[in-house]
Amino acid sequence: MLLQRIQLQHFRNYQELSLEFTASLNLFVGENAQGKSNLLEGIYLAALGRSYRTTNDQDLIQWGAPFARVRAEAEGEAAGCRIEILLPREGAKEIRVGGQPLRRHSDLLGTMNAVIFSPDDLQLVKGAPALRRRFLDIELAQVSPAYRHHFARYHRVLRQRNNLLKAVNIGSAGRDALVEWDEQLIADGSRIIAKRARAVRRLAGWSREMQRRISGGREELDLVYRPFFARPGEAPGSEWEDPEAVAQRFREALAAVRREEVVRATTLVGPQRDDIAFMVGEIDLRYFGSQGQQRTAVLATKLAELEFVREETGEYPVLLLDDVMSELDDERKARFLETVTGRINTFITTTGLESFTREILEQAAVYRIRAGTVVPEKV
Ligand SMILES: Nc1ncnc2c1ncn2[C@@H]1O[C@H](COP(=O)(O)OP(=O)(O)OP(=O)(O)O)[C@@H](O)[C@H]1O
Ligand SMILES: [Mg+2]
Repeated sequence: MLLQRIQLQHFRNYQELSLEFTASLNLFVGENAQGKSNLLEGIYLAALGRSYRTTNDQDLIQWGAPFARVRAEAEGEAAGCRIEILLPREGAKEIRVGGQPLRRHSDLLGTMNAVIFSPDDLQLVKGAPALRRRFLDIELAQVSPAYRHHFARYHRVLRQRNNLLKAVNIGSAGRDALVEWDEQLIADGSRIIAKRARAVRRLAGWSREMQRRISGGREELDLVYRPFFARPGEAPGSEWEDPEAVAQRFREALAAVRREEVVRATTLVGPQRDDIAFMVGEIDLRYFGSQGQQRTAVLATKLAELEFVREETGEYPVLLLDDVMSELDDERKARFLETVTGRINTFITTTGLESFTREILEQAAVYRIRAGTVVPEKV
């Protein structure tokens, strides 16, 4: 996927911006607080319909402006796409693809795939399980319409089932009413888990290779999916990728917590309790990894994500790197850039060019960012 053009209107600190890209590797250089991350955020918004930095779309509208608009044009292997996102101060977000408004915003996913790597992602290894689930969900939602469908329906059913559990808890509904929701929950939940299990297995293969490459052969990384029903020490098996087999485990787990669920008035089992472990040998990096190991593991996983998307969709997503180059030592940085340049359409923000080699700079297009203006620069 090649992003060819981006236009921002009243977006963050950009009044009006129109940029065309021709190079595969693009560097956005500028001092702090000039709009580097905002520009990446605009690209990300066009790809996913939401920000990676805020859940509140209103934050994206330039202060005092009545709306924000982002347009993007990208060229894929098979076809090009034109995306437009309008965020009004009053009223609902509008998303158009090829000029046609989308009824369901989630249908945007898959139009232009993007992978972001920002300092917040360093939490992927050591942060809460919810972050790791979100990583998988965003990943799978981009490549699989079926996943989006099951995911949306699962969460709808989960909410309704939780409401019902509250009603049963206070005695305003009978337990029998739960049965019908249970099978719905199991049906969609099992498909989510089976898809996650397969995705993590695929990712694990790639990330092992990437970790080896970036660490200079010193570390073997293993990503291990931990679905909610996994027993301590239970290794992932191929049956985890089979929705029927998973449904059986789900059903058993649900039966075992039935009584407690009513007391606690909430659903206690399901994919909303899944996790992934990042292991090097017997060491769980979440608890025992050094900062450098954790950082390399995140990087390896992000690189694995690129390969996964390519495998599933036939092409690499656009890669957005927000200020993460400064976090790596020179050797790891060089190996990392070698891995992506020339193959993957990449956008990197940085406060200075001195950490990039001549070789890299020769291949890159450099843009100087100052107070919401962007000027191409000769290096
Ligand atoms: N809705 C908004 N309207 C106008 N300006 C905004 C809005 N949201 C953020 N800004 C401003 O945009 C400026 C640039 O932010 P951005 O995060 O892009 O900086 P940056 O160039 O990435 O800096 P750093 O190197 O520190 O990461 C900030 O000063 C911020 O206050
Ligand atoms: Mg920034």
